[in-house]
Amino acid sequence: MSLHTVKHNFKITKTQREKLRGHKAYLLWFTGLSGSGKSTLANLVETELHKKGLSTYILDGDNIRQGINKDLSFAPEDRSENIRRIAEISNLMLDAGVITLAAFVSPYIKDRNQVEQIVGADNFIEIYVNTSLKECERRDVKGLYKKARAGEIKNMTGISAPYEAPPNPELEVVTDGQAIKESVKTILEFINTKLK
Ligand code: ADX
Repeated sequence: MSLHTVKHNFKITKTQREKLRGHKAYLLWFTGLSGSGKSTLANLVETELHKKGLSTYILDGDNIRQGINKDLSFAPEDRSENIRRIAEISNLMLDAGVITLAAFVSPYIKDRNQVEQIVGADNFIEIYVNTSLKECERRDVKGLYKKARAGEIKNMTGISAPYEAPPNPELEVVTDGQAIKESVKTILEFINTKLK
């Protein structure tokens, strides 16, 4: 509850932190099915940005759900709470002047809209990692699809829970049949124009 709290305004501002770091901070929000390649892409994009001397940080569903969000399930309301917390964490990262890459299934349009609202539309870059269910199931890196088809995992996105594709993402990368290098290049070109 936020009753009886008053916001402090500290002396050093986001703009000053960005100036110190030498670049603006953006939130790159990767959304897509489990196994679509979100984390792989975020990893490769971060590596390139880091090489250029930019301040970056990755927030990733599998990792965050082992720590701060380990109390949350995959039921719709818990996914919403997962994404809301990540939005608030991202907002702090942005305030610190750090380019933040977030890789979350984030299957609901309303939850992603809320992220945009929390961090501000100017800071939010939605990247739809469009990999077909067929391809994700073929890869099945974590073996989750097999378990979901066998009924061992409930609420599996794409199988027994919905995925609402972004109608208007800033970027869409189709990974079926496309080299990962191409997707990384597309994302880097886009972010480079924003960072200028
Ligand atoms: S989200 O829907 O709440 O945004 P999040 O990105 O945090 O999901 O976590 C997704 C990861 O959790 C997947 O990559 C997968 O490894 C794992 N996972 C386990 N159960 C499920 C499930 N029922 N649906 C989707 N992902 C699942």
